[in-house]
Amino acid sequence: MQIDTSESIRARTRTSIFKHREHLVDPGFSDVLFNCWVYFGQRLLLHPMNRTKQLFNRWALEGHDKAAESEHSYAVFKVLSSLEWADTDSYLDIGCGNGYTLRYVSKFVKKGRLLGLDFSREMIKNARRASGKVRNAHFILADFTKWSAGGEKFDKVFSMEAFYYFKNVGRAVQKVHRLLNSGGAFACVVDFYAENKASHAWPKPSCCGVPMKLFTKTGWRRLFRRSGFKNIEQYQLKYPKKLAKAPWQTKVGSLVTVGIKR
Ligand SMILES: C[S@@+](CC[C@H](N)C(=O)[O-])C[C@H]1O[C@@H](n2cnc3c(N)ncnc32)[C@H](O)[C@@H]1O
Repeated sequence: MQIDTSESIRARTRTSIFKHREHLVDPGFSDVLFNCWVYFGQRLLLHPMNRTKQLFNRWALEGHDKAAESEHSYAVFKVLSSLEWADTDSYLDIGCGNGYTLRYVSKFVKKGRLLGLDFSREMIKNARRASGKVRNAHFILADFTKWSAGGEKFDKVFSMEAFYYFKNVGRAVQKVHRLLNSGGAFACVVDFYAENKASHAWPKPSCCGVPMKLFTKTGWRRLFRRSGFKNIEQYQLKYPKKLAKAPWQTKVGSLVTVGIKR
């Protein structure tokens, strides 16, 4: 059974609790039962991938996608503007959130197709709402690890803070390599990486509470090399003090890995 949102769990649980309410000793007990189910049921019964999806649906509904946009845009725009663009380039953003990178790339690419992919329904809704004026921007609701691109290929593939959520990161990097046209570039940015000690707490239940894969800088470079990428460039992009929202952004910064398909 696919459970998508906490709303649907709540609705279903409420129906079943209220149906059997007369059998309960204390009506207040149903509330306790309901809260226990919402808390423990979601943690124990939901597949980790669904928990991740649910987290980002909630973020999108609560407006955290905009906070993520403002937190990430300095690094993201620096990386994107460092690539060489043609007006006809095709562009894919994997784990696009509210689609802000497509709106930025549309400044360089007027004719090519811009595609944002995310498996959170609510993120995709926000992305479509915010990008209505960008005629070449399209969004697709899909799990990247299961997505079949139907033969479509891209000149540039980008991802910010999404790849470490995948169960098999190496396989996902290989998939990007297959999706690129010859000469195409893949730029992958992560803030959760071994050299950024401040990020190590992010998968804990007290923080995001979803599985994340931790790689070193060398580990990311190896994933790119093993997938067939050439001319791999890697750097830590540090934020200027006045734009930084957390101390690690000025100290270690975001890890950027860029590879070319030859
Ligand atoms: C931390 S957010 C980053 C969003 C955006 N890239 C940004 O910079 O703000 C990670 C995004 O990756 C998406 N995501 C995670 N796993 C995914 C998967 N398997 N397939 C597609 N999207 C995924 C989430 O839904 C979420 O929107």
